[in-house]
Amino acid sequence: MENLIIKGGKRLSGTVLTSGAKNAALPILAATILTEGKTRLLNVPDVVDIDSMCKLLSNLGVAVSSPDSDRHTIELNIGHLSRLEAPYDLVRKMRASVIVLGPMLAKYGHARVSMPGGCAIGERPINMHLAALAKMGASIEIDHGYVEATAKRLVGTSINLDYPTVGGTENIICAAALARGTTVIDNAAREPEIVDLADFLNKAGAKVSGAGTHQVIVDGVDTLSGVEHSIIPDRIEAGTYALAAAITGGEVTVSGCNPNHLGAPLEKLLEAGCEIATSRDSLTVKATGRARPVSITTQPYPGYPTDLQAQWLAFMTLADGSSIIKETVFERRFTHVQELRRMGAKITVDGDTAVVTGVERLQGAPVMCTDIRASASLILAGLAAENSTVISRVYHLDRGYERIEEKLRPLGAEISREQV
Ligand code: UD1
Repeated sequence: MENLIIKGGKRLSGTVLTSGAKNAALPILAATILTEGKTRLLNVPDVVDIDSMCKLLSNLGVAVSSPDSDRHTIELNIGHLSRLEAPYDLVRKMRASVIVLGPMLAKYGHARVSMPGGCAIGERPINMHLAALAKMGASIEIDHGYVEATAKRLVGTSINLDYPTVGGTENIICAAALARGTTVIDNAAREPEIVDLADFLNKAGAKVSGAGTHQVIVDGVDTLSGVEHSIIPDRIEAGTYALAAAITGGEVTVSGCNPNHLGAPLEKLLEAGCEIATSRDSLTVKATGRARPVSITTQPYPGYPTDLQAQWLAFMTLADGSSIIKETVFERRFTHVQELRRMGAKITVDGDTAVVTGVERLQGAPVMCTDIRASASLILAGLAAENSTVISRVYHLDRGYERIEEKLRPLGAEISREQV
């Protein structure tokens, strides 16, 4: 087990480089199952969730490696898979493992994937993934905690999602890529990670159009080949560093990101009183005094992202007044609240809504990570708090943030990691 120790109260300044997007790399790694031959993925973040997906792929019989000199490149050689199963132990650690379901089913006509249970932030069922695959002709059964899906060859159809599920849209796009005929997905998720997946698949020979809009159309093809592809920057990581500048009263340039992917959060930062400058691949956030209180409601993209809700809430604990944080994507994504309260934050929660009354200062305290983004909110609070904050269970953080302390230290943060 490891802890992070932060001595707060330092204004951050300088430049921090964004890593590749974990949530784009995961489905693209899974989508390599659809291809044949060699694929090279560049700008892959060096985080634990990516290791888990690589382990899953190796388990299926894919040759996965990284050059010694470059942990951000992953080379895969896709032959015939030796297993068609995502086991409980891997899915339990990372729910996004279910994204191998569509690719395995489309390519091999069979897949067995451990049914994910609920998690810290909500129920997170996969009913929409399964209903869509069934509509494409798959027979789906639940057998001893596993989803067993079988189909000779999936058939394109029209799918109208009840909600623009990100993972569901990705699973369906992958399944449709090798299906017979055309699949039309309405009310599709529009996240940039969906666009990156479509770009990857199209390079490999797929025919996906409309990614990034409400309607994605996939014309099935017979085979896909290996390609080279560079993963888009991580908008959530970039947004977290932007908020680190804001909460510490600092000025930070986040380089190697795509500010267009951060429209809603940057608008909110402006409302809160920050100055923002953007270029094609960087953004600079400068705090100009105590933040104004600004309310947010999380929404599917291009709305304010749920994955930056906890970090915004942490920022608002020090604002000059009260703000309302409404979480509409997940049912119980407020586990950071109890921890932030331990640092002196004034927050009440009623159902999907938190009311944050800004205080003048937070105090360092021992706190505990509960999920990836909740962990990031504790880091932000610790950076701004008086004295020391000790953050435990940082393995949650390491799932999605690449060496966060090594990125924050050059900005002036006093942050270190200790083994316990
Ligand atoms: C992805 C992201 C996650 C992000 C989320 C929302 C990855 C690996 N993870 O998760 O970081 O927070 O998008 O932006 O990319 N739902 C159903 N039935 C389904 C599918 C989803 O009810 O079949 C519900 C979920 O429980 C949740 C909501 O829909 O309440 C959104 O989930 P979804 O968009 O699918 O998120 P994930 O793909 O799991």
